[in-house]
Amino acid sequence: MKVLVTGARGMLGQDLCPILEDTGVFVIETDIDNLDITDEEMTKEVITKTHPDMVIHCAAYTNVDKAEEDFETAERINITGTENVAKACGALDIPMVYISTDYVFDGTKKTPYTPEDDTRPLNKYGLTKLRGEEEVKKYCEKYYIARTSWLYGHHGNNFVETMLKLAAENKEIKVVDDQIGCPTWTVELANGILKLLSMPYGTYHVCGSGSTSWYGFAREIFEQSGLKVDLKTCTTNEFPRPAKRPRYSVMENNGICRSWQAALHDYLQLRNV
Ligand SMILES: NC(=O)c1ccc[n+]([C@@H]2O[C@H](COP(=O)([O-])OP(=O)(O)OC[C@H]3O[C@@H](n4cnc5c(N)ncnc54)[C@H](OP(=O)(O)O)[C@@H]3O)[C@@H](O)[C@H]2O)c1
Repeated sequence: MKVLVTGARGMLGQDLCPILEDTGVFVIETDIDNLDITDEEMTKEVITKTHPDMVIHCAAYTNVDKAEEDFETAERINITGTENVAKACGALDIPMVYISTDYVFDGTKKTPYTPEDDTRPLNKYGLTKLRGEEEVKKYCEKYYIARTSWLYGHHGNNFVETMLKLAAENKEIKVVDDQIGCPTWTVELANGILKLLSMPYGTYHVCGSGSTSWYGFAREIFEQSGLKVDLKTCTTNEFPRPAKRPRYSVMENNGICRSWQAALHDYLQLRNV
């Protein structure tokens, strides 16, 4: 089996590609220099020439706060770029996997979101990712949309590393306690994507099982790392950011991934190797 991965040098891509290779897949790793998804001709040409059995589309504009002021770039990469990939896949009947986000939801629900729940993004990043989902559905009959959330991995800036850095530099740390979601390790997401491939095409939630606040996530990071930190809660209002976030973006994952705590344990173990 031959799989083309876009955004292969990103945080998810760098964990996903070796995991695919370990299962015997031949991986065509692409990123902006050899497959700029905003270039329609280039996208069509690369996908047509390499003719993979599947495309896993990880490339994206992922800076949630910056997308508020730089909507044009986010739109070009997340909507037009995804449209270009979807068009090329659809024309050749190649199955496509698109990675989406919990930020497609507005966070007003009180129980975990299912893939069938209504979407209403609160921020521009979420809006571009949702429009990306629509492009995938428009052009591809064979697609998996994998919505994930609160992603961290060894190959990118992420919340776990930020907390560990803050702990080394500060006596007291304040973390937001009124946003609830599902932390997800990139390796867990990559394994979840592999599981999807034996399931019917459609939209799925691929995130850590269980849920917590950013404060709860930080507490678990410090507990599992054996660090004593004076950790205090704060509210979203006390820590304003350009992009609005859903207060509750917990997603029902139907057991596709392990508990977020178990995944964090493995992440921290590997980090220390
Ligand atoms: N990170 C999260 O918390 C999170 C949460 C939910 C969903 N997701 C989704 O998960 C997926 C993977 O996220 P990630 O954190 O691995 O993202 P990432 O680290 O930002 O990786 C994205 C990759 O795409 C590349 N890229 C940007 N523009 C491109 C273009 N025009 N053509 C080709 N490649 C381009 C980036 O290159 P440069 O680095 O050079 O720009 C980068 O290598 C994305 O679809 C994201 O929306 C992420």
